Amino acid sequence: MAKSRIQFICQNCGSVHQRWAGKCDACGEWNTLVEEGTSGGIGSGPASTRNARKGRAVVLTSLSGDIEDAPRIVSGIGELDRATGGGFVRGSALLVGGDPGIGKSTLLTQAAAALAAKGHRIVYVSGEEAVAQIRLRAQRLGVADTPVELAAETNVEDILATIADGKRPDLVILDSIQTLWTDMTDSAPGTVTQVRAAAQAMIRYAKSTGAAIVLVGHVTKEGQIAGPRVVEHMVDAVLYFEGEGGHHYRILRTVKNRFGPTDEIGVFEMSDKGLREVANPSELFLGERHAKSPGAAVFAGMEGTRPVLVEIQALVAPSTLGTPRRAVVGWDGARLSMILAVLEAHCGVRFGTHDVYLNVAGGYRISEPAADLAVAAALVSSLTGLALPADCVYFGEISLSGAVRPVAHAQQRLKEAEKLGFGRAVLPLGSEELAGGNGVGGIGAGAFQPTELADLVARIAGSRRSRADEQE
Ligand code: TYD
Ligand code: MG
Repeated sequence: MAKSRIQFICQNCGSVHQRWAGKCDACGEWNTLVEEGTSGGIGSGPASTRNARKGRAVVLTSLSGDIEDAPRIVSGIGELDRATGGGFVRGSALLVGGDPGIGKSTLLTQAAAALAAKGHRIVYVSGEEAVAQIRLRAQRLGVADTPVELAAETNVEDILATIADGKRPDLVILDSIQTLWTDMTDSAPGTVTQVRAAAQAMIRYAKSTGAAIVLVGHVTKEGQIAGPRVVEHMVDAVLYFEGEGGHHYRILRTVKNRFGPTDEIGVFEMSDKGLREVANPSELFLGERHAKSPGAAVFAGMEGTRPVLVEIQALVAPSTLGTPRRAVVGWDGARLSMILAVLEAHCGVRFGTHDVYLNVAGGYRISEPAADLAVAAALVSSLTGLALPADCVYFGEISLSGAVRPVAHAQQRLKEAEKLGFGRAVLPLGSEELAGGNGVGGIGAGAFQPTELADLVARIAGSRRSRADEQE
């Protein structure tokens, strides 16, 4: 007999506890255990297996054999298709996470409209907004007359019954997963048990019918899709929609994809008529550039398979504090301390009595170590008051010994720089792609390739002398 039992389930990792505690043993988070009743259904564990039927044998097969490309539905919104790896895959589940208000519903409304206009059957189910609100948004986006089928509903069984009616939909959008609930469990909506059960039911629907589904999930302040990390494991792909407050652009970042590459990004700009694609992000991040100001260096970075140029800004100012201030926006603070230490220890540049501020322009975030060289150049430039050449890009990793180390994709970075009108580059020696000399034009040929960071510092400091010569 399956009896209803009280259990405590961690809302962060989903582990089950018999007793309440302040801290979850499994993931170490505080105040995440919530009482949830289990009376059969999903998550009830051994109780439901007691009167299990005898298993049915499945046919085992080999690794080799015919495979078909995942059938996709392409939205025609280039940046979205890039992030999904070429379109929504039929029969798969995609999770789109992001802060509240970042533009998830806007993006998906636009995608739904684009697909519906192409003749696909698209169902948009909103559990957060009333139909009137969604219509208002569609009007603002100028897509109100596309044949998207709309519902405001939160019960999974009702949703499944609704979409089973008529032709199988090509894409079902569920906004958001936190509002869904199923009759199968009696926990409150938004709890791990409910979210997991609802997601599982929808994913099962996708796999059995071949419809693609998109689940929208809110992200908490800590940057996790609220509560149900569990959903991330269940879906085929996870995209995060990110952006900095005060900036208009948004980045759609692929963090998991069973059918395509991860590390891809799609870049959008939020306008008064919805999201606009930004096909060339470098132009956006370099947009506000003032040539000839000390402390600015352009970093040639990579986002997945795509090169992105961004400006790194440093301000080094005399400090009045006993312990000078170090502040970083858009980069890793520990990495900045490391670069400062290398500059002090190996290049004789002193920052001990100076405050150091580092900012990545446009609110962009860099995670690549390849930015080291650009950061070092910006710091030295600001300290000495000598502006770096405006048409020069920088990339390369710096080791603790002060050596400049090669990074991947040198050729792609240089090509992007050349395309945007840069004529000079500072990059590590021994970037294998350059050695072949295949296709790198003037910028690669005339590049400065230091082996030690001290060489670059000497060159920046040396520019003072040559400028003085010019003036004489
Ligand atoms: P929304 O898609 O509702 O965010 P989410 O679903 O992620 O919570 O976007 C809300 C924000 O976007 C809101 O602050 C208004 C802004 N917005 C625009 O700037 N332009 C537009 O055309 C639309 C539809 C929204
Ligand atoms: Mg929304």
